[in-house]
Amino acid sequence: MKSDEIRERFLKFFEARGHKILPSSSLVPQGDISVLFTTAGMQQFKPYYLAPDNAIKDFGTKNVTTVQKCVRTGDIDEVGDATHLSFFEMLGNFSFGGYGRREAITYAYDFITKEMNLKISYVTYYKGEGVVPADIESKNIWAEIDPSLDIREDGADVFWGPTGLNGPCGPTSEIYCKNADGADVEIWNIVFNEYFCDGSREKLDKGEATLKKLDVLGIDTGMGMERLVTIVQGKKTVYDTDLFDNEKTREERIIADHVRSAIFMITDGARPANTGAGYVLRRLIRRAVRFSNQPLDKIINDIQNKYKGIYNLDDKGEIAKEEKKFQETLEKGLKEFEKGIDPFILATTYGFPIELTLELANEKGKTIDLEDFNKKMAEHQKLSQTASAGMFKGGLANHNENTIKLHTAHHLLLAALQEVLGKSVKQRGSNITEERLRIDFMFERKMTDEEKKKVEDIVNSKIEAGLDVIHREMPLAEAEKLGAEMEFGAKYPEIVSVYTIEDKNGNQFSKEFCGGPHVENTKILGQFKIQKEEAVAQGVRRIKAILV
Ligand code: ALA
Repeated sequence: MKSDEIRERFLKFFEARGHKILPSSSLVPQGDISVLFTTAGMQQFKPYYLAPDNAIKDFGTKNVTTVQKCVRTGDIDEVGDATHLSFFEMLGNFSFGGYGRREAITYAYDFITKEMNLKISYVTYYKGEGVVPADIESKNIWAEIDPSLDIREDGADVFWGPTGLNGPCGPTSEIYCKNADGADVEIWNIVFNEYFCDGSREKLDKGEATLKKLDVLGIDTGMGMERLVTIVQGKKTVYDTDLFDNEKTREERIIADHVRSAIFMITDGARPANTGAGYVLRRLIRRAVRFSNQPLDKIINDIQNKYKGIYNLDDKGEIAKEEKKFQETLEKGLKEFEKGIDPFILATTYGFPIELTLELANEKGKTIDLEDFNKKMAEHQKLSQTASAGMFKGGLANHNENTIKLHTAHHLLLAALQEVLGKSVKQRGSNITEERLRIDFMFERKMTDEEKKKVEDIVNSKIEAGLDVIHREMPLAEAEKLGAEMEFGAKYPEIVSVYTIEDKNGNQFSKEFCGGPHVENTKILGQFKIQKEEAVAQGVRRIKAILV
């Protein structure tokens, strides 16, 4: 079976069982300060586990399914083995109170054994620890469904989450199948979100965070697409499937993996940079360049072709640009490295990401004074730091009069879109420059001219009405209760900042989670105009608009 068919069969399987098929969220979460990349299918649905009724409002159902683009750079050192990738697709089904353990386990069992015709090697269930009891219920359900199944107890590996700073989490049950080598491959993780953790996973493990039982049990599952394809196609590694080109050596595999990640990241808006997601991207490209003795263009083409019709991949020439930049200094840098390592010089003069220097040093059995490097880098960066301060406050990076006005217009636009196209219109991304605003939102089709005109008219009428823009800070739960618009997929801290746009009687036209800044009254915005409405991905539209 071809990978394209497997992807399709997964979505259709769950659609036939009452799930709504939704698009993947962006690989680069917008407006989210706690993660650099999307790492799991459930990330875009985090708020729904706390407020399940919103799922009905937004999707018309409590059960949804996706194929989510994911990046996990924590696994980067393992890339090159049979199963680890820095980018992968996660097949997932999710329920916000629509069903529980029995259905989730039965669906997974049926999909693997009946729909895909595979044999399960073994499954696991959580053995319990602290306040979380052993998951005997799952164990019993598995045994009931298939008495011949090998059911094993497992520990911390099968307690999942939370992602980011806090969130839903719970015990899981994992499914393993054998690859062509007879090795057990973990393919599917079924999470029972029973708890809310008020801190990160790290804090939870250190005993610095607490678990609170959620009102409603949530289901969150994730199956590694490339691993499933490996098993279905009877292969030994992910590289032997039709998603890759049979890369044999570790170097070839690293190149294929890293270039693939880079293309997906760039397609979703990331660009090589010295901080954040852009830095990870830069690191991946440079690592691929180091392992490759030929230009990457053929691999780039191959990957873009492989996903034709599924993802509209376009690296926009960014990889070649980065490749060229690094090629110019790579050789000299390597010589410098041989002479004696100063990681600071390698980073600042030759563009070697510190991780690359560490890797080189490791290969040669040399050690690196990381503390000294960090100190020098901190001094080096002091100057540029002032410029980027404020970037991480969840608002605008560049505040000037125009961007602030456009930001307020952006809020009016989202509310107007919901009024005209329906409440299911959710923001998926935004970007504001001095000249224009841009919003990406979930909507299935092209807007008609009448709809665009209507939206423009509403925004302009709200501008003329002179509505007040009011800022409040409140606990996350309270803001959720208020129904404030949150960016789809973003994660928020415990105390959030909310902006409402309302008339003198307190009638709120717009309420959004937002870090600001905004104008005080809409009166000063001038005239609002939509310049362009277009598709950016399946089910995601983009509007560019200006104020004149
Ligand atoms: N969220 C779970 C995972 O990523 C399914 O493994």
